[in-house]
Amino acid sequence: MKGIRVPTNPKSLLELTDAALSADYTRVRRVVTSIAKDLEKSGHQNEAKELRALIRKRGVPLRASGYVETLPVDAKSRLPLVEERPWPDTPIFLNEDAWRVFKDIIADVQHLDDLSKKGLSTRLGLLLSGPPGTGKTLLAGHLASQLNRPFYVLRLDSVISSLLGDTAKNVRSVFDYVQGKNALLLLDEMDALAKLRDDKHELGELKRVVNTVIQGLDELDPAAIVVGATNHPHLLDAAIWRRFPYKIELNSPDTAVRTDMWKHFLFADDDKENVSNLLGGLSGGMSGADIESIGLTARRHAVIDKRSIDIGTVAAAIVANQAGKSSLPQRQQLDSEQKKAVATVLKEKFSLSNADIGRLLNITRQGVRSYFLHDDGGA
Ligand SMILES: Nc1ncnc2c1ncn2[C@@H]1O[C@H](COP(=O)(O)OP(=O)(O)OP(=O)(O)O)[C@@H](O)[C@H]1O
Ligand SMILES: [Mg+2]
Repeated sequence: MKGIRVPTNPKSLLELTDAALSADYTRVRRVVTSIAKDLEKSGHQNEAKELRALIRKRGVPLRASGYVETLPVDAKSRLPLVEERPWPDTPIFLNEDAWRVFKDIIADVQHLDDLSKKGLSTRLGLLLSGPPGTGKTLLAGHLASQLNRPFYVLRLDSVISSLLGDTAKNVRSVFDYVQGKNALLLLDEMDALAKLRDDKHELGELKRVVNTVIQGLDELDPAAIVVGATNHPHLLDAAIWRRFPYKIELNSPDTAVRTDMWKHFLFADDDKENVSNLLGGLSGGMSGADIESIGLTARRHAVIDKRSIDIGTVAAAIVANQAGKSSLPQRQQLDSEQKKAVATVLKEKFSLSNADIGRLLNITRQGVRSYFLHDDGGA
């Protein structure tokens, strides 16, 4: 930046000096980010780029300065407002559309420097929407892990349940905290923002918090990745919605994804009989979290009782779930009454063949046929 006349805003110069002298690197980065923005606006693209590259590359010299950062906490409860989570150690199963967007954003991050040199970089914001237990939080963790970024989670619901009026301050302090950390910040449970609309809170409070989130998003350095997660995307403020150019809808997994999930969670990827296909077909509408808990429970029982996995109890649990009763596999084998009841549902509701019913319940085809002798003449 030699020899150019940069329009200096005296206020930011003051703030920058103050932040630097108090070793507040978070604030230094924030002020520098906003100076870079001013530079860009006034036509100094190259200088803005250099400044941004500088704050992206230089780590915070924590030890050298003796300056130790602690997690921001809520003033009243003293609970941390943001947590750093470990990267996930279980795989994620996604359909092709979701994988595509996931890979797109990874490619964008990996080519950030090239793209921004050409003025083509976009905001690194990804909005994940979908019902509970469909892998939103998990996906954000995988993104952080793929990109080698620290994974910070701000749960908007917990930030909001604090003292009225402190919410915006809390949100602000989390954005300040992650600034310059080259992190991935997950704004989890964003519906909580919309819930502020209820009559307990004044509308002014909602506006203040939403504005703080927007301002936080706008002031983050461009290399920061922000992932938002919500169950109800339609309740989100339009201004927030627009700040996430990438979107992934995580609905209930489709048949192929469910089959992969059964293979992994129930059979630990060792499904020689190919039963996962059948279970994938039966479990429409169930979430990844449902499949995981049923699969792992059945596997636990097998280990405890030193036997192979009892698929019959799994099928019974699926059938119960499909009837609206959330249920896990029972530990003891199904008795013949239970088998008959499950077989009837598998036949009538899912149109399974006697052979497939027999495979799931571990009975012969004749055995299955005998269940239906009275009902349909032994088909
Ligand atoms: N698509 C998936 N692939 C692999 N595992 C999954 C998937 N969806 C859910 N799971 C399992 O279910 C658990 C819960 O998922 P997660 O917490 O990511 O759901 P969520 O969408 O964030 O739910 P909520 O809206 O309740 O926060 C995961 O830790 C994982 O074990
Ligand atoms: Mg979640």
